[in-house]
Amino acid sequence: MTIMKTAKTADRRGFILSSIFFICCLCALASINEVRFDALLRLGNCAAAAIKNDIKSSSFNTNDTTSSLTPQNSSSSEDDIRILIGILTLPDQYQKRHFLRLIYGTQNPTGAKIDVKFVFCNLTKEDQKVLVALEIMRYDDIIILNCKENMNKGKTYTYFSSLPELLNDTNAPSPPYHYVMKADDDTYFRLESLVQSLKPLPREDLYYGYVIPCPSMDPFVRYMSGMGYLVSWDLVEWIRDSEIPRNKMEGPEDKVFGEWLRVGHKAKNRFNAKWSMYNFPEPKTGCTHELWPDTIAVHLLKNQEKWIRTLNYFNHTQNLKPSKLYHIP
Ligand SMILES: *[C@@H]1O[C@H](CO)[C@@H](O)[C@H](O)[C@H]1NC(C)=O
Ligand SMILES: *[C@@H]1O[C@H](CO)[C@@H](O)[C@H](O)[C@H]1NC(C)=O
Ligand SMILES: *[C@@H]1O[C@H](CO)[C@@H](O)[C@H](O)[C@H]1NC(C)=O
Ligand SMILES: *[C@@H]1O[C@H](CO)[C@@H](O)[C@H](O)[C@H]1NC(C)=O
Ligand SMILES: *[C@@H]1O[C@H](CO)[C@@H](O)[C@H](O)[C@H]1NC(C)=O
Repeated sequence: MTIMKTAKTADRRGFILSSIFFICCLCALASINEVRFDALLRLGNCAAAAIKNDIKSSSFNTNDTTSSLTPQNSSSSEDDIRILIGILTLPDQYQKRHFLRLIYGTQNPTGAKIDVKFVFCNLTKEDQKVLVALEIMRYDDIIILNCKENMNKGKTYTYFSSLPELLNDTNAPSPPYHYVMKADDDTYFRLESLVQSLKPLPREDLYYGYVIPCPSMDPFVRYMSGMGYLVSWDLVEWIRDSEIPRNKMEGPEDKVFGEWLRVGHKAKNRFNAKWSMYNFPEPKTGCTHELWPDTIAVHLLKNQEKWIRTLNYFNHTQNLKPSKLYHIP
């Protein structure tokens, strides 16, 4: 094997060298009428160009991995629903982000463009400046808001109210997203089911989620659970512009969010996704449901065992492509 390879390489070198020599001769011929010094220069340039071309063509001829990394043209249509899923989390949750990237990077919903971003407030530690910067360089899926990290003192307000300015880009489609979601980091969203449930719904004045209290099926009373609620873009703009959210930020973020809409008489369109959204079956409460096929989101996946059971139930890894390189029973 090694000998053959060496022989092949030697062959190839010989071929390249003779090609370059031939090209040099052509160059020399072409510049026969020029001053010697000039010709020499040209000779050098010609040879350099020949070598460059050789490198270029050889990398085009190989069937390398770059071509398989180019995205398939599955979601380029104008009709696609554009959704931003902001997962509110903390800078130090590196493992959690790594895991959620796997969860959402392995779903390919049709008819939608979904961006999943991790949202946190100002960094506070020296190591975060390097580690988070590395993540951004590699994944570009992080939003750092101008705030101090908090759960129920306005982070959700800062998230929604910052988006119109953060995403203000004249070259981007308008609105940048039809829907914006706030999600927890212990919720598993099945993106295909989410998209299917959103397709028939209005793209304006919409408030979508799992209505609280748990037994209630009326989305016009109280609010949607923080496991993951979604509003249309016009409501994002309203949150930015209205006095109502600005004046009331403290308290459980999901409850406060619902109050803004109630006080502002907003969200005439509401959709209760219960029981396609629910808490993990154990421990059993009024908010839990058995895992079942008609699922958009499962919440309270507080440990690895619960994630694994959920991913197994929904056959999340079923489409693993076969290969000689691995065997997973
Ligand atoms: C690249 O791969 C494709 C399919 O795997 C094959 O049809 C094609 O001939 C290959 N091209 C080269 C230059 O090897
Ligand atoms: C890619 O997009 C083109 C036009 O946008 C469409 O005709 C074609 O069917 C698409 N291919 C796949 C594999 O979806
Ligand atoms: C967040 O960081 C920015 C830039 O480093 C700074 O200007 C701003 O005052 C900080 N905000 C808070 C709430 O600490
Ligand atoms: C978006 O940018 C335009 C032009 O730069 C500006 O007039 C407008 O106020 C901006 N909107 C927001 C929400 O920042
Ligand atoms: C998972 O796959 C199994 C076997 O193919 C199938 O019976 C089951 O219905 C699938 N589960 C879901 C939730 O699609």
